[in-house]
Amino acid sequence: MYSFTTDWFEQTAQANWAKLLPEIRPTRILEIGSFEGASTCFLMDTLAGSEALEIHCIDTWGGGIEHQEDGTAPSDMRAVESRFRRNTEHALSKAVHPVKLHIHKDLSHRALVRLLADGKENYFDFVYVDGSHQAPDVLCDAVLAFKLLKVGGVLAFDDYLWTNELTSAVEILRCPKPAIDAFVNIHFQKLRVLKMPLYQFYVQKTSD
Ligand SMILES: C[S@@+](CC[C@H](N)C(=O)[O-])C[C@H]1O[C@@H](n2cnc3c(N)ncnc32)[C@H](O)[C@@H]1O
Repeated sequence: MYSFTTDWFEQTAQANWAKLLPEIRPTRILEIGSFEGASTCFLMDTLAGSEALEIHCIDTWGGGIEHQEDGTAPSDMRAVESRFRRNTEHALSKAVHPVKLHIHKDLSHRALVRLLADGKENYFDFVYVDGSHQAPDVLCDAVLAFKLLKVGGVLAFDDYLWTNELTSAVEILRCPKPAIDAFVNIHFQKLRVLKMPLYQFYVQKTSD
């Protein structure tokens, strides 16, 4: 049985993915920010019944600074990581088709650069960006993830409209939105914005 202590995935992504994943049927998947594995397990439960999968999960399992500051991060991130490992083992045990699960325990920019150096440019069908919510980090994740995404692949951002309760508008760079907007504007001739409910933000890569 799965063990999750938050409903973050259910609240933002689940309904979108239930509609999108059967349409795009990704088999090579990259996730930035895995936490307890709710999103990772949903991917396996939804997709591994029909095809073999390769899933890469990047997380420090140190928590984001916004959650450390507003008190919503679990104090024991070691327990979070243990739950991630148990939850994904459970999902793997149920998978009908083989799933290669690669766990990159590191800061996202380091892991993303390593994936690029390992030849995974234009490789992934679906990338989910749900790691750090600080604008400079989100911009870096977006730009590197776009290089790793193949043409036709979908890049999904969680928390496009998230704001840090502790901060005012003056601290807008502590939110994902300005980074996602800057990334989309700069890459506008290489992507198409998908029509999805707005709390998350989805784009499809149209050229390299
Ligand atoms: C919102 S949670 C991810 C939730 C998960 N996608 C889900 O739906 O269940 C964000 C995760 O990103 C990780 N994180 C924050 N900043 C990071 C960074 N710079 N590099 C890698 N992971 C980071 C945190 O440790 C945390 O587990």
